[in-house]
Amino acid sequence: MGTDSNRSWQMSGFGLSNLQPVEGKIPDPGPHELLVRTKAVSLNYKDKMIVDGVLIPDLSFPFVPTSDAVGEVVAVGGAVSRFKVGQRVLGQVIADWPDGDAPAVLHQHTLGSSLPGMLSQHVVFGEDAAVPAPASLSDVEAATLPIAGLTAWFAMAEATRPVPGQTILIQGTGGVSLFALQFAAAFGLRALVTSSSDEKLERAKDLGAWRTINYRTQPAWDETARAMTDGLGVNHVLEMVGGDNARRSLNALAADGRLSIIGLLGATEISFPILSFMRNRITVQGLSIGHRRAFERMNQAIEALGIKPVVDKVYGFDEVPQAIQHLEKGPFGKIVITTA
Ligand SMILES: NC(=O)c1ccc[n+]([C@@H]2O[C@H](COP(=O)([O-])OP(=O)(O)OC[C@H]3O[C@@H](n4cnc5c(N)ncnc54)[C@H](OP(=O)(O)O)[C@@H]3O)[C@@H](O)[C@H]2O)c1
Repeated sequence: MGTDSNRSWQMSGFGLSNLQPVEGKIPDPGPHELLVRTKAVSLNYKDKMIVDGVLIPDLSFPFVPTSDAVGEVVAVGGAVSRFKVGQRVLGQVIADWPDGDAPAVLHQHTLGSSLPGMLSQHVVFGEDAAVPAPASLSDVEAATLPIAGLTAWFAMAEATRPVPGQTILIQGTGGVSLFALQFAAAFGLRALVTSSSDEKLERAKDLGAWRTINYRTQPAWDETARAMTDGLGVNHVLEMVGGDNARRSLNALAADGRLSIIGLLGATEISFPILSFMRNRITVQGLSIGHRRAFERMNQAIEALGIKPVVDKVYGFDEVPQAIQHLEKGPFGKIVITTA
């Protein structure tokens, strides 16, 4: 394989068997772009949904999936002023959202959905759609941040402000949830973590969980959460599942509680009673990752607080199908692919 070729994994249709390695030309960066030699790519649950044809049914092929990558800048366009060759960078997934209000139409410029994804040895970022990678993290660790880290951070530190001593209920032990747990511990929040596995719950305790609930053996986990908070309910729930799960989330919330709608692991719709919303003055917020300024603030916090992302398993660039299959098993934290 020549050093001037760009190895990628490309979808020619839906289904894992249609995701294949290909070789192409290394792209040329435009005047305001960075050419980046990727080092590591992390997977998110939605990558499996895209490969399976569930999330973007009208996707155009060929398509390189995944959204999260860390790499080294190897060339810059003539007008670039924010970055230099040699810097280690992360891509900002919603590329046209630098700060403040979201763009009028979200996801017209999103890595790994409306823009090409990151499963390539070379990728191009707009200079306004990249951030320096935290120096405290390895390539594998840094690759986990763009979606999972930023979504948890945005829900907890940007869309609202954490109040030390308050409670937050975090569902499951996947990528977003373990970042949320680590941020909760850092912010002085009391985190209640749910999981299908007692073994994973033990590991969540090591990461700072205040209370744990097995949602398989305790399907009425909302009542358990209320009991654990002296009948008051929790202040914030990160909804990762949808469907009837959200009804339980609502029931677990205290007065003036907050419901952050993040995931659709179980269903693509939610329904719940209106009265509890009004009676308890619940705020509901839909989340869509976050903006670049928040990404920079999060990275600063990760460095300052010494937070190390939880990586379940690292796969090689020849093991992409196995890595995507691992998502089906429910990872503890993140799955990362090195692109060497
Ligand atoms: N809105 C956004 O911006 C945004 C950003 C990122 C992700 N998401 C969404 O958030 C969800 C999680 O994403 P991810 O990448 O963190 O997933 P992931 O890493 O694949 O994590 C999956 C984990 O979810 C847990 N889970 C599955 N069913 C559950 C249930 N019924 N109740 C509680 N937990 C359950 C499992 O934990 P246990 O094994 O411990 O049971 C599993 O390990 C996905 O739906 C994803 O599409 C949304």
